[in-house]
Amino acid sequence: MLFAAPPVTNSQIEAKVSALLGRMTLEEKVGQLVQYSSSEELTGPLLGKNPTLAELKAGRVGSLLNVVGAKATRNLQEIAVKESRLGVPLLFGLDVIHGFRTIFPINLGQAASWDLVAIEGSERIAATEASAAGIHWTFAPMVDIARDPRWGRIAEGAGEDPFLGSAIAKARVRGFQGNLDQPSNILACVKHFAAYGAAQAGRDYWTTEVPEITLRDVYLPPFKAAVDAGAVTLMSAFNDLNGIPCTANGFLMDQILRKEWGFKGFVVSDWGSIIEMVSHGNAADDREAAILSYRAGVDMDMEGRAYLKYLPDLIRKGVLKPERLDEAVKAILTAKARLGLFEDPYRYCDEAREKQAQLRPEHLDAARNLATKSCVLLKNEGALPLRAGQRIALVGPLSDARHDMLGSWEARGLPAETRTLKAALEQVAPGKVQFAEGCSIEGRQRDGFTKALEIAQEADVIVAALGESREHSGEGHTRSSLGLPGIQQELLEALHRTGKPVVLVLFSGRPLVLENVLPACEALLLGWLPGTMAGPALADLLTGVANPSGKLPVTFPRNVGQIPIFYAHKPSGRPQPEGVVREQYKSNYLDVANTPMFPFGFGLSYTRFAYKNAGLDAPEISMGGRVGISVSLVNQGDRDGEEVVQLYVRDRVGSVTRPVRELKGFQKVFLRKGEAKTLRFELSAADLAFSHADMSFKPEAGSFDVFLGGDSRAPKVGEFILRAN
Ligand code: NOJ
Repeated sequence: MLFAAPPVTNSQIEAKVSALLGRMTLEEKVGQLVQYSSSEELTGPLLGKNPTLAELKAGRVGSLLNVVGAKATRNLQEIAVKESRLGVPLLFGLDVIHGFRTIFPINLGQAASWDLVAIEGSERIAATEASAAGIHWTFAPMVDIARDPRWGRIAEGAGEDPFLGSAIAKARVRGFQGNLDQPSNILACVKHFAAYGAAQAGRDYWTTEVPEITLRDVYLPPFKAAVDAGAVTLMSAFNDLNGIPCTANGFLMDQILRKEWGFKGFVVSDWGSIIEMVSHGNAADDREAAILSYRAGVDMDMEGRAYLKYLPDLIRKGVLKPERLDEAVKAILTAKARLGLFEDPYRYCDEAREKQAQLRPEHLDAARNLATKSCVLLKNEGALPLRAGQRIALVGPLSDARHDMLGSWEARGLPAETRTLKAALEQVAPGKVQFAEGCSIEGRQRDGFTKALEIAQEADVIVAALGESREHSGEGHTRSSLGLPGIQQELLEALHRTGKPVVLVLFSGRPLVLENVLPACEALLLGWLPGTMAGPALADLLTGVANPSGKLPVTFPRNVGQIPIFYAHKPSGRPQPEGVVREQYKSNYLDVANTPMFPFGFGLSYTRFAYKNAGLDAPEISMGGRVGISVSLVNQGDRDGEEVVQLYVRDRVGSVTRPVRELKGFQKVFLRKGEAKTLRFELSAADLAFSHADMSFKPEAGSFDVFLGGDSRAPKVGEFILRAN
């Protein structure tokens, strides 16, 4: 063993890492910066030869990704530990994005739960399962703010809002990492640094141009929150940001991340993103790309092979500084030490633990709970909840689509272990469910319509399970039109024409355009891609065993032309007056309203919540003060339910223009029918800080409007003044 006794304190770890560093050759040091993927399981294009065992033995590999399983990781770890000169253990990484074996809803769906406890719990479970299968490190959380639903990776994040995104980022880091003192804790990797979600026109791997002020106030807060929560690693993004690809962006990695935020962990490139800079055109060749990334602050080269090939020579020749190498190696070794890998490199490769850790009943319960909380009821003209004894025609290609339920990152989730809507409905309504697929997700065959319409005629209610497949969202899966794929719209309309009530269960990895969909259904429950426990969660909601409580973490546009559309936009100098169809010389469209189809924060319930006696406890505060905002929330309906109470603020006048409103607080509250509860929020001056023209981040004296309610259109409940002092 390299370390005789377990290092317990940071200074002990530091001393031991420094001692080890002192014994390493240049090649061994560079080896720690090298990460390869298993060629059996690729999550990107294979970019070269796989490492040979000789390279492992020579200590020229620091980390592997996509090698999974206690046995497989142990085998390779043994080679690194027993057969390399210094026996430095490998770090095994994997994309554990929304579950490992127990698959939770896609991240955007999870964000719709606004339930930080449930989200943190899901990552705890993901870490428990993954760590038992040899995984030390997940490439999550993905915290990219996304305001363009064409971009397929919107599915992986928390939506459009920096405040909600930051809260979720923290919860995920806590869930994965815990205190990093248990073998069930894994390292988090916050990604993609930064502004990857701002890809022009929603195209993946595409250019981003984001003014620094917007970068700081919109795109960076979730990264900062994750770093503050202790995230040990970050991933540099693929995109070119304001002319400098993120993987060579010293402003991001050196200035902001390390200098301003004090980040002490390490940065891994995205898959091949170092050498992709040749294609971006800011490096002439791989060698130059390696120089740029190294100088800018990328510590580990994922799959690019450029560091391995060029760094030793560049450092030897004095082109690159060796101190920078030591910093990078130290950060990587420290991460390994914090995981306890020097005391026990096989801590995460225990086959018995691996078997018993997966898909445990409590994991499935948590997945069902989070799936239930993530669904958003977008429309209900009384068709939901279904009534006992109703004959149900279940129609649609997603009714029994086990694989699609798993979403874009399935890790070790298995379609065979997925519970579908069909299976769940048949279980809760035995003998009452007839099923017809109707059509496929993308195909153009109408043959299946006949049977679908036949069973619809015989039913009391139609449950249509339509929407996107798992392939429609995720990495590299951008869409330019956001309606139902294939001929599903036609199927929906044909079902609607039967005159039977249509309950649409909509599956998607992003906001869809629903202008033609909404008129063709009486109720619409948005399920996203709900994971392993999709069916039971949806069946609970459809039958009223559970009450929908999800709220949109992202705006739903009326049409693609409105994109980007988000609630926290800036005010125009010529705003369109509210309630007016269209006024000349005002900011509007000729052919569509400015308002979205569904606003951020929106979601219906089977019960009714009333907001009463909302008020502020002070008309003004000083820079060091706080204002309290309280409201009485009443469940006036006849069912128990949960409401997401949202607090928004508008800074009326700023030295730079301020958004029309910004989310500043939320609480998810459970109330029994008839119950009332007083809720209290607090705002401090610091909560009102924003970036100024000189990039200083501070609050500004002035007047603020306060809005409180169940979505981003919440009414104004008061105002206060922030005094200069
Ligand atoms: C590329 C993706 O952008 C990133 O999110 C992922 O972690 C890596 N591939 C590794 O699979």
